[in-house]
Amino acid sequence: MTVARTVHREAFSSRTVFILAAIGSAVGLGNIWRYPYVAYSSGGGAFLIPYLVALLTAGIPLLFLDYALGHKFRGSPPLAFRRLSRWTEPFGWVQVLMCLAIATFYACVIAWAASYAWFSLTLAWGDDAEAFFAGTFLQQGEATMFGGLVPTVAIPLVLVWVVNIAIVAIGVERGIGRLNRFLLPLLIALFIGLVIRSLFLPGAMAGLDAFFTPNWAALGDPQVWIAAYGQIFFSLSVAFGAMLTYASHLKRRTNLTASGLVVGFSNSAFEVLAGIGVFAALGFLAAQSGVPVSEAAAGGPGLAFVAFPTLISQMPFGQIFGSLFFLTLVFAGITSLVSILQPPAMAISEKFGISHRAATLSVGTVAAIVSISIFPTTTGLNTLDVVDNWINNVLLVSNTLVMVVVVVWVVRKTPMLARHLNGVGSFKIGGWWTVCLGIVTPLILGWTATQSVITLLRDGYEDLPGALLATFGWGVVGGIVVLAVLMTFVPWRNEDHLAAGVDLDDPREEAEAARVDGPRRDSRSDDGRPHTPSKEDSE
Ligand code: TRP
Repeated sequence: MTVARTVHREAFSSRTVFILAAIGSAVGLGNIWRYPYVAYSSGGGAFLIPYLVALLTAGIPLLFLDYALGHKFRGSPPLAFRRLSRWTEPFGWVQVLMCLAIATFYACVIAWAASYAWFSLTLAWGDDAEAFFAGTFLQQGEATMFGGLVPTVAIPLVLVWVVNIAIVAIGVERGIGRLNRFLLPLLIALFIGLVIRSLFLPGAMAGLDAFFTPNWAALGDPQVWIAAYGQIFFSLSVAFGAMLTYASHLKRRTNLTASGLVVGFSNSAFEVLAGIGVFAALGFLAAQSGVPVSEAAAGGPGLAFVAFPTLISQMPFGQIFGSLFFLTLVFAGITSLVSILQPPAMAISEKFGISHRAATLSVGTVAAIVSISIFPTTTGLNTLDVVDNWINNVLLVSNTLVMVVVVVWVVRKTPMLARHLNGVGSFKIGGWWTVCLGIVTPLILGWTATQSVITLLRDGYEDLPGALLATFGWGVVGGIVVLAVLMTFVPWRNEDHLAAGVDLDDPREEAEAARVDGPRRDSRSDDGRPHTPSKEDSE
C-alpha cells in the first residue's frame, strides 16, 4: 500500500473481529485432539481440577500479561520485550521459535484430520481403526531418527501449508480476520451438534462418569499437574507470543481485560465440551467391547484418530458424523495455525524491515519444508510426540518461569502494565494479578519445570530411543535457546526508532491514540510524533 520496506501495523477492524480471531487461535486441535488424550492419560477424572486451577492461577493472568505487552508495546514478541526492557528480547525470540516448532507438527495433524474427513465417507479404516491409523495410513515403522516420506500424508500437508501461508500473507484483517469471521460460527455450530449427538450414544453416561469423577489420589501425582499446566498454555495459546501478537493489532482504546475473560472462558468451555463429547464416545466404545472406560482406547496422539473411527463405524449415520467431526477439527486447526505463524512472520518483518508479505512467505516456506520433511514420514508420529512434549512441558514452562520473574521482580513493570490494562477496562486488576504472576505462577512453574526435567532425564520418554529424545527433545529445546540469544544480537533494521525509546507511559499517547483511532484502519497516521509507540510503522 505504500513504498516497499515500510512496515505497517495493520489493525483488526473491530474488537469483535479481534475476539473471534483470539477465540479462533485458542480453540484448536488442543481442545479437540490434545485435551482428551492428555486428560485420558492423566486418569480422566483426575484432570479437571488441576486444569481449572491452572486456568485461574496461570492461564488468565498470563493472558492478561500477553495482552498488556502486545497492546502497550505494539510489536511482535521480540520487539515488545525489547521495548519493555532492552535485554529481555530473547524471551520474545524463544516464543517466536516455539511457535515455529509447533507449527511444523500442528499442520501435520490438520492434514491427518483432512484425510480422515474423507476416509469417513467410506469408513476406509475397516474394522481395526488402530492398525489402520498407525499402519496403513501413517505407515509407522521402527522409532528411528528419520524415516521415509509417506506421500499420502505429505500431499495434504503441502495443501495445509499453502492455505496457511496465503491467509497470513493476505493480512490481519482481510486474511486472519475474515477467515475467523467465517469459520468460527460454523465451527461452534457443528461442534455443539456433534457433542449433543454423542450424549445419546448408549454407554455415554459411563464415559461422563469417568470424566467428571475426581480421582483425589491422582492429585498427588506431579505428572498430572505438569500435564494440566502444559495443556492450559497450549490450549489458550498463552506465553507463546500468539495472543501478544494479536493484541498488538488492536486499536488503541480497547477493553483488554473483558476481551481476555471472554476468550479464556470460551476456550475452556469449548475444551470441557470437547471432553464431554470424547468421553461420551469412549463410554460408548467401552460398552460395545465390555471393558472399563479407562481401557476403551489407546491413549496418546492417536486417540482421536482411533477412538472416533471405531465409534463412527459402529453408530448409525456414522459416515456423516465422522466427516463433520474431522472437518470441525480441520476448521479449528486452521484458525489456530494462522495465529501460530503470525508471530514469527511479524518478528522477521520488524527485525529486518521487510514487508509483512515477504516475511510471511520466507518464514512460512522454511517452516513448511522442515514440517514436510520430518512429520509425514515413517517415524513422524513418535517425533511429533517428542517435539510436542519437550516444547510444552520443558521449554515453554521454563521460558515462562524466567520471563514472569523478570517482568515482575527484576524490571518491575507489572504496575505499569496493570495501569495500561486498567486504562480501558470494565474492572480493575492489580493485587491478585500481581500475586498470581509474581508468586503463584512462578512457584508452580518452577516446580513443574523441575519435575518434568528430572523425570525426563531419569526415565526417558515412552521407551523411545535416547538418540531421538536427544535430537528432537533436548536438541530442539537447546537449539531454540541458542538461536534466541543469537537473534538478539542481530541489529534491528530501524534501530533509531527503537533506540528513541518512545515513552510509552506518556499520557499524551492515550490522547493521541484516541485521536488517531478512527472507525477504520488506525495507528497508521503516525508520522513523526516522537511519543507515538507505533512509530516503527513508517520509515
Ligand atoms: N491454542 C491452540 C489449540 O488449542 C493452539 C495454538 C494456537 C498455539 N496458537 C498457538 C499453540 C501458539 C502454541 C502457540 O489448539
